[in-house]
Amino acid sequence: MRTALIGANGQLGTDLRLRLPGDVLALDLPEFDVTRADQVRNALHDYRPDWVINCAALTNVDACENAPAECFAVNAVGAAVVARAAAQAAARLAYISTDYVFGAAGERSQPYQEDDLPGPVNTYGVCKLAGEHLSLAHCPDALIVRTCGLYGHAGARGKGGNFVETMLRLADNGQKVRVVNDQRLSPTATADCAAKVVELLLVNARGIVHAAAQGVCTWFEFAREIFTLARRTVDLRPISSADYAAPARRPMFSALGSRRLAALGLTPCRSWREMLAEYLAARAPRPPEPNEIAGVECCRTSGAASRGIGPE
Ligand SMILES: NC(=O)c1ccc[n+]([C@@H]2O[C@H](COP(=O)([O-])OP(=O)(O)OC[C@H]3O[C@@H](n4cnc5c(N)ncnc54)[C@H](OP(=O)(O)O)[C@@H]3O)[C@@H](O)[C@H]2O)c1
Repeated sequence: MRTALIGANGQLGTDLRLRLPGDVLALDLPEFDVTRADQVRNALHDYRPDWVINCAALTNVDACENAPAECFAVNAVGAAVVARAAAQAAARLAYISTDYVFGAAGERSQPYQEDDLPGPVNTYGVCKLAGEHLSLAHCPDALIVRTCGLYGHAGARGKGGNFVETMLRLADNGQKVRVVNDQRLSPTATADCAAKVVELLLVNARGIVHAAAQGVCTWFEFAREIFTLARRTVDLRPISSADYAAPARRPMFSALGSRRLAALGLTPCRSWREMLAEYLAARAPRPPEPNEIAGVECCRTSGAASRGIGPE
């Protein structure tokens, strides 16, 4: 199997590179830009992949809210550019999408399934949903994999870390941690998501498939589990989304379930607790960065960690 992996240096891309069978062409900024149609077309034409996986995205949700044109250029138009080039190269396309295509329905108790009606509540979600549609418009047999709250050892490049690492850094600096307790999701390790994407390619899946951890928690509950498993004693308290006015609104509930995995003969993803335990067990200790000045980091992160850094 020959796979062109776009966004290969990101946190999901890094785990995909480790797991994809066969030959992989890793493509990412700065040499490869999904907004440059000529570059994309030439790369795919020359490589002749069986599959193109598009992981490239602007993933900083607040930055996207403040710069909608840039967000649309990469997450929507870039998706169209990749999809058209994949079609021209006669390759199958897998587009990685997000739980943030949901949220407009407000409170829910059951995870969203693949056939639930999307309704994004912020610019990032709107642009990713447009990316889904544009991928399918050019490649009607595209595979759209939606996942949720990603964290991986490579860290989300768009955000300079991930939620787990941010929590541990705050704990190690002895800082107070305040995390939102009214947004529910299914946080997913990139290792598990990447493994499921590979399984989906191998069964030639098409259409929308959700690949996210089983179970639902709030960001606060996720943080509490991180500190419990990592044996850190932390002054951790819940706050509401309203307590911190982030530029972008977040879904109050965006956990993903999947009926399609079973229909395709695949096993469901593991629980978010199992994924987290494995992530922490494999994690190498990291010395503090020189610029982690206590007061500044605390102020910046108490809001950003609860909403922006790491998982969307
Ligand atoms: N992170 C989450 O919580 C989350 C949740 C659900 C779904 N997703 C989706 O999962 C996918 C992977 O996310 P991730 O967490 O791995 O993000 P990530 O670590 O930020 O990786 C995205 C990669 O895309 C690259 N990229 C950005 N603009 C590009 C462009 N114009 N051309 C080519 N490459 C470009 C980035 O490069 P630079 O770093 O140099 O900008 C980065 O290497 C994305 O489609 C995202 O929407 C993410």
